[in-house]
Amino acid sequence: MCSIFGIIIKQKTETTPIESTLTALKMLEYRGYDSAGIASKGDKALQIWKTQNKDNKAEGVDMLRKQMTEMGVISFPTQIVIGHTRWATHGEISQKNAHPHSSQDGNFAIVHNGIIENYIELKEFLRSKGYYSVSDTDTEVLVNLIEYRWNETGRISFEVAVRQAVSEIEGAFAIAVITSSEDKMIVASRSGGLFVGITAYGFVIASDQSALVAHTKDCFEVESDCLVVLTPEKYEKRTIVSNQEVVPDIKKIELEISQIQKNGYEYFMQKEIFEQPKTLTDALRGRVRPFEGIIKLRGIEEHLRRIVQAKKITIIGCGTSWHAGLVGEYLFEQFTRIPVEVEYASEFVHRNPILGEKDIVIAISQSGETADTLEALALAKKSRATVIGLCNVVSSKIARMAGVGVYLHVGPEISVASTKAFTGQVAVLTAIALLVGRQKGTITESDYMRHITELAELPSVVEKYLPYFDIVAKEIAYEQLHSDHALYLGRGYNFPVALEGALKLKEISYIHAEGYPAAEMKHGPIALIDEKMPVIVIAPQGDETYKKIIGNIQEIRARSGRVIAIATEGDTEIVSLVEKVIYIPRASEHLIPIIAVVPLQLIAYHNAVMKGLNPDKPRHLAKSVTV
Ligand code: M6R
Repeated sequence: MCSIFGIIIKQKTETTPIESTLTALKMLEYRGYDSAGIASKGDKALQIWKTQNKDNKAEGVDMLRKQMTEMGVISFPTQIVIGHTRWATHGEISQKNAHPHSSQDGNFAIVHNGIIENYIELKEFLRSKGYYSVSDTDTEVLVNLIEYRWNETGRISFEVAVRQAVSEIEGAFAIAVITSSEDKMIVASRSGGLFVGITAYGFVIASDQSALVAHTKDCFEVESDCLVVLTPEKYEKRTIVSNQEVVPDIKKIELEISQIQKNGYEYFMQKEIFEQPKTLTDALRGRVRPFEGIIKLRGIEEHLRRIVQAKKITIIGCGTSWHAGLVGEYLFEQFTRIPVEVEYASEFVHRNPILGEKDIVIAISQSGETADTLEALALAKKSRATVIGLCNVVSSKIARMAGVGVYLHVGPEISVASTKAFTGQVAVLTAIALLVGRQKGTITESDYMRHITELAELPSVVEKYLPYFDIVAKEIAYEQLHSDHALYLGRGYNFPVALEGALKLKEISYIHAEGYPAAEMKHGPIALIDEKMPVIVIAPQGDETYKKIIGNIQEIRARSGRVIAIATEGDTEIVSLVEKVIYIPRASEHLIPIIAVVPLQLIAYHNAVMKGLNPDKPRHLAKSVTV
């Protein structure tokens, strides 16, 4: 949700600070793309340039670059720049609401990620002091408050003014502020999620480490309730409230530039779908060892006994992570016989859940910073349940708060639509369930051996089928999906896959799609079936639901519905019942979700591209939902 980048330098750099900021903002744009803007300190005054994303094509940063190039300001002489891309919370998507915001008298400029909960009271207060807002944002209130406190304290210290103002605001935030009167940048946070990179030529700041890699691999986080004062030569980190010095924990960024580039693919989503054989390998590497007959998950090793003895497992997550959690429910119940509940994190926090010491809570989150999941996790921690995090982003908030967990290791996921994270999540959940099942004795040794061998082979299975999936998915996207609606049906393990396929289509192709357990169709959704309605049915052979699914397909046909089936290779019977078949290899039923979801990801991807939509940056969305 919103991205921040900033740079403060002591010596000339190869690329100008504004150029570097534009490049970084382009990389961070996936976090929010309603508008983009830059502020920089000139000799005497602050300069601000901004633009809104007008046509939902997410070209905000490109437009800003174009504008600034035409104005000849890319090489504007400056040592200090802050930039922002916005995901709107307070105020419509418009130029006036775009960041950076300037204070009333132009002494300060700010970029902000988060929500200032008491901004209405503060706005009233400032109005009584003669400060009026130009925008509808909460952010402008904060920058005016900084200016007001600066004036009130005799204009002595930028730092004192920022410290005082941020102490007065309620809510979570990450900000970067610059002033026309000093060669300084101040960054502060009450939520974490802001990083300072240390370079030979000065400092860079960003809300995502990926934007620092082009400059440096050494960075530290501005943790919650901390403030960092940066000059071109040095940094000083202190606590906001008590003003105590804090020694930064400088870490190496474990990311390569190639991981955050498209590497020849047209879109990140396409790259991330095609990366899945590798990301599945990475998620399982060293963990699932069929030759030794073991599964080793260091992150939860010490807690294995508690998991084996658990009374109940509660899985929490949002969106795609919640869907992975639903697959987890089937996995744990099949292999461990431990009862499982899967909860939307956003609902969990308002339900006064019954949890105790003997419970396990698994929080699933690709980004590790989804606000709802974080809040749910905090609640679970209070209940003294054992909390396990399943995150992709290393050292993310959820991973740190959980303390115990397993990283997905699928590499940075940039596209807003989650793909490789889902398959990574399900692969890791499968490994955990098999490990716990073996310890608990709820799975036979021969089944365990068979399953870990099959799990370890899964990446090459996906690799083999990907080119074929891509061709058929493209045909389906072009030939079958001309409706405004679509239904996705699956049973058992494949019900969550139906939900995930529908979510992908909704979020990037803007087709209204619903996922249903196939048998539920006759309890309502069947009324929607007509000759225009495409129904995508996941119908693999190999379990007792196959015959029932065929029955469901017949019911759709009887009502002139158009069925596209995902079926097992060699199933020739199904061909005569449906309009199109995508074949998947025969596999154990618990592994089908990882295989069957891939063509569904590709169908959504091709449909979006066919419509001229940018699948990486669908309208109204942002990659991490941190508010
Ligand atoms: O980072 P998280 O896994 O916590 O994110 C959860 C959801 O916001 C996310 O999965 C969202 O639904 C995706 N856009 C789905 O593709």
